[in-house]
Parts: sequence; structure tokens; C-alpha cells
Amino acid sequence: MSFATRLNCSIEEIKGIFRALYGSDEKAFSLFEKMVFYHDERCDELKALDEERLLDSNWYKRSNMLGLTMYTDLFAGDLRKLKAKIPYLKKLGISYLHLMPLLKMPEKDNDGGYAVDDFSLVDPRFGTNVDLVELTHALRENGISLCLDFVMNHTSSTHQWALKAQEGDEYYRGFYSFYEDRRIPDEYEKTMPEVFPETAPGNFVWNEKMGMWVLSTFYPYQWDLNYSNPEVLVQMMASAMNLANMGVEVFRLDAVPYIWKKLGTSCRNLEEVHYIVRLMRIVLECVAPCSILKGEVVMAPKELEAYFGTKEKPECHILYNVSMMVNFWSALASQDTRLLYRMAEDMLCFKEHCSFVNYLRCHDDIGWGLDENMERSLGIDPLAHKIYLYRFFSGDFKSSWSRGQLYNYDPDTKDARSCGTTASLCGVEDGLNHSDEEKIKMALKRDLMMHASVYAFRGFPMLSSGDEIGQLNDYSYMNDPNRALDSRNLHRSKFDWKIAKNLEGWRKEIRDGIEQLNSIRKNNELFSEKASVMTWYGHNDKVFAIRRTLGEKDLLAVMNYSDRIESARFDFFVGKYVDLITGYVLEPGNGFSIPPYGYMYLMKKEG
Ligand code: GLC
Repeated sequence: MSFATRLNCSIEEIKGIFRALYGSDEKAFSLFEKMVFYHDERCDELKALDEERLLDSNWYKRSNMLGLTMYTDLFAGDLRKLKAKIPYLKKLGISYLHLMPLLKMPEKDNDGGYAVDDFSLVDPRFGTNVDLVELTHALRENGISLCLDFVMNHTSSTHQWALKAQEGDEYYRGFYSFYEDRRIPDEYEKTMPEVFPETAPGNFVWNEKMGMWVLSTFYPYQWDLNYSNPEVLVQMMASAMNLANMGVEVFRLDAVPYIWKKLGTSCRNLEEVHYIVRLMRIVLECVAPCSILKGEVVMAPKELEAYFGTKEKPECHILYNVSMMVNFWSALASQDTRLLYRMAEDMLCFKEHCSFVNYLRCHDDIGWGLDENMERSLGIDPLAHKIYLYRFFSGDFKSSWSRGQLYNYDPDTKDARSCGTTASLCGVEDGLNHSDEEKIKMALKRDLMMHASVYAFRGFPMLSSGDEIGQLNDYSYMNDPNRALDSRNLHRSKFDWKIAKNLEGWRKEIRDGIEQLNSIRKNNELFSEKASVMTWYGHNDKVFAIRRTLGEKDLLAVMNYSDRIESARFDFFVGKYVDLITGYVLEPGNGFSIPPYGYMYLMKKEG
């Protein structure tokens, strides 16, 4: 289907979205012009990829998908140097690379790049636009898709638009939400929760220059864009198309639930947000159909499904699987998989077109957003459990082997989140501190068992750079005044190339374990979207199991979340299965035992 046909087929829906949001479709015409402009500008190589993917729209659901997320500077220095590191990514089997924000940002207060000064310019500390285009080209040649953040909710307070607004330019004043007094802000505050209660309390910031309050949900230097102004929407869509033309294939829709505000509501997940995500999907499907949307929706599952839209009107292609991530960690600390099972069952009920990025760690904290009703139904007190979890992962109990730190502790609500690298949270750091081989051994098992859980779930896995070599927490941020206040910096450290080039001992075991999981997934159709994925109960609450089936093929991933040997028995399983991890053969239906923190990928023997 040609661009003209795609656009023609979409015109009415786009106009309808503008009418729903703004009561008029007048501004839709400037969007159409921009769509034509960016399509004309798009290079032949990307247009060829568009054609390819129009014929293979499930490309991101295949078993060969493996993600990696990283900061350009921490991994390689800059974009050019990162290009030179592609062989490392290739060797690891990466097909999807998420680079943390790299667009022009303020020197200091920039929230790791999530305060953007210019959506069309690479920040000079990472290189130039040409470097980015060359990198995306080289990545594509190596079968790797680049994912970049699309920070839609806000700009930095030093973005041109914000500066002009501060100078009194009426047009740009309409890009943000300003208030002369506290009346409306106070009304909002009644129903709008805080995102960073400790590091950035409140949702408004006083601007001395203008003598006004500015809506700023995140940090005070991140000003929320005003999407009730159609000009903002059109400009932001143009920014996305421009990035797509630079070779971005996956757009991570940063903080997308927050983009529309309405008095008297929580200002999250409002209906208008979905119109905007849908619009973005249509725009990219017309102009750059090789690209996909990944929603950053850190919300309860009941809110999540809406971000996929419907089969007829899809929105995001993939979402972060936040709920499973949190539940994996919760099960690890409590040695109890009951909540994990319930959550997995809920997530697996999502409709067929829904797909996930599964992960253990990313650049952010672990927010303990468990399903409170689910917890209560199991007799778990939600607040007590949350306190237990964040204290456990901070190593606050004598029995805890975890070494993390708190993030945004709120003394009023007793809410807090956790930071740390996978290896440190799993106990490697504690084992090393005690020079205790046994502890290190257990920690490794936990680390790999957690990865095995992630790899088995529906969707594709994403590693956090450094986890593949067991990188530990880096406490040096605490001495840097620019970073000290944000404990997420604990797990945002320089990639250790010296270690990576010479892996030995426990680090090599982690790397080997992860590589084994990568290769098991890679060419096995059981890990593609074609397989059915379900949970399976092994008559033991300390054991978690995921079953994948495709025709006659059958695989049972079994993970032991306890520090003891556990037994499990899987009803309705007949015959012999071979463990792809160890090569052992056993019969899951008859019962068997699993070592502490052990994991098995049991594949039905043919014939
Ligand atoms: C997202 C990012 C986080 C950032 C926030 C504000 O949640 O993952 O790192 O602080 O958005 O942009």
C-alpha cells in the first residue's frame, strides 16, 4: 500500500480525533502537510524497511528479539564509539537497543536526559545528528532496531518554547500551563498524586520571571506540555516523524499516561491520552510504518490493556511489563509465588495483539505497585508487604542478602521504591563483602533464575546493560552533588569494559547462563508470538512455572523461588521431557525436585 493510500485511508480517523480532542478538525490539516513533508524527506533505505515490515507486521514478536537498554555515555562514551561496539551487541544477540535520552538537554538539571531542550538535535556530548543517523544505519545492517525515548509529557524549562513563553510570547505561553495564583493549582493538587514526593514534591513550580505557577508533574525543571492546545500536538507529531527519519524504529512513549490533565481527576490515563497515542500510531503507520510504539505505562494491569487499544484501533505495539517485573522481585524476597501466579494469569489474559517487553531492571527504580486487592485476597497486608520489600532490598534485615537503596521514601504514606543492579539486589555484593563463596553461589543462582523467569514470559526479554556481566551497585554518585539526590544513579554506572573483556569466575557464570538462555530462545518458535503461553501449577507455592505450546511442541519453564530444594508435580504432563539447561531427562507429571533457586526449561521429547 502506497503512502498516498495509507494517508487517504487515515484522513477521516485523524480528523475525528482532532474533533474529539478540540471540537474542530481545523488543525488536522497542518498535520497532514507535515506528514507529506516527512514522507517525502524519508530516505530510500528506510522506505525499503517500511515496505518489508508492512508485509511482516509481527517482526517484533519473534523469538530472536532480545533487548538491551543503556546510556550511550556510560557504555561507550558517545555515538561514534558506540557504533564501534556493535560487535559486542551482536555477539550478545541483541536485536533491539534502547538508548537512554540523547537529545539536547541542559548541562545539569536534566533528569538523565528526560528534560529535553530540543527534540531535533542530538546533545553535543553524545555527538551530532549525523552520528545518530550513521549509528542507526549501522545497527540496521546488523539487525538491531534502535529505540529512543519520546519524552512527550514535558520539555525542559530551557527549551526554546519555554524560554519564549517566559519572555512573554503568547503563542508559546499556550504550550504550557501557567497560573497567576494558587487557586487552580490547589484544586489540581487535591486529586493529582505526586510522582517524586521526596525529590520533587507538588505538581506546580513557581516561576519568578513570569510571576506564575507552572504545571510540572516531574522535576521543577520539566514543564508539562499543554496538549489541550492542538499546536502542541502537531509540533510533537512532527518531532516524532523527524526522529523516525533519523532511523528511530521504536518510540518509547515516556510517561505517556500523564500527558492530558483535567481538574478533579488524577490526571493519569485519561481518555484523551488514548486518542493521542492512537493518533501517533496512525501518523507513524502512514509515514514510517517500520516503526513501533512502546508505552512506558507504570500503572496497574487494569489500566495497561487500554494502551494497546483495540484490534481495530490499536495504540501501542508493546508495553513494559512492569507488573511482572515487580512481582518477580516480590516473589524472590518472600519466597512465595502466589501473587506472581495471579499476576501472570492476569497478564496472560490480555488479548492476542498485546505484547510485552519483559525485564528485571532498567534505568529507573522498582516501584512496589503490587495489586492490593490481589494481596488482600491472599491475606497479605499491602502496606506491611511493601515496607517489607523495600526494607528487604535495602538489606535492612539481618537475613537479607540484598544490597539496594531506597528511592523517594515518603514518610506520610510510608511509600518507597528500590534501586540497585540485578547482581547486587540478588546478593552477589553481599557475598563478596563477606568473601563468602557459598553466598556468592546462591546469589548467582538467584540472578539466573530471575532471568529465566523473564525469558519465559510472553513478549521479549530486555537486559539492562551491565547485568550480563554482573555489574554491581556504584556508590560514587553519592559524592557528586549533581547526582547525589537521585538514588537511581546507584545502578546507572559506567560499563566496565575491563571486566567484560576478561570474564571469569562468577561473572562468567552469569554471562554463560544468560547466553544459554539467549540461544535457547533465539531459533525456537516456542518463544515466538505463535506459541500459547500459560501458567502451570506445580503443587508448590515456592515454584513458578510457565508453559509454552505450539502444535506438538511443549515447553515448561520451572523456577524455584526458594533457598531450599523444592519438589513439584505438574498434572496432565505425560511422558519424558528434557531440560534444555542441564540436559537431564525427567517426567514432570511424576514429580521431581528442583535445587534452591534452580530453573529448568523442560522440553517435550519428540516421538
Ligand atoms: C520516565 C523515565 C524516568 C523519568 C520520568 C520523567 O518515567 O523513565 O527516568 O524520570 O519519565 O521524564
